[in-house]
Amino acid sequence: MKVAIGCDHGGISLKSACMEALEELGIDYVDEGTYTEESVDYPDYAAKVCQMIKSGEVDKGILLCGTGIGMAISANKFKGIRCAHVADEYCAQMAIEHNNANVLAMGGRITSPEQAKRFVKKFFTSEFAGDRHQRRVDKIIALENKEL
Ligand code: RB5
Repeated sequence: MKVAIGCDHGGISLKSACMEALEELGIDYVDEGTYTEESVDYPDYAAKVCQMIKSGEVDKGILLCGTGIGMAISANKFKGIRCAHVADEYCAQMAIEHNNANVLAMGGRITSPEQAKRFVKKFFTSEFAGDRHQRRVDKIIALENKEL
């Protein structure tokens, strides 16, 4: 398992906590920036991480911005990406168990580094429940192929 992390200036405060959580889980990761507090545009970082997942370079992603919302909206434009905006531990678990999400989005202005660490641990240790949830995820995938 390899994870790509992307953030903007609003999410950078959570990056170290995410890296620490992945290290403690023994999961390999790559930091795709941003690396400073200078203002940048979150869709650029969402695109970087999602392209890496689509190309198979990494398996999953973590995207961090001020609220997590802009990153989630951007990431979910990519075919094959299921990005979950997470602000509590229950949703971090359900994002995998029910939705088989491949990207975790969180907000540095609404989530503390300690919380982020717990959400990352929950997200990356949960397992997809399959069965009826597989049918529903298949329906999400079918939606990607439709003009809506
Ligand atoms: C940047 O100010 C902010 O808009 C961004 O980090 C994010 O919260 C967008 O959804």
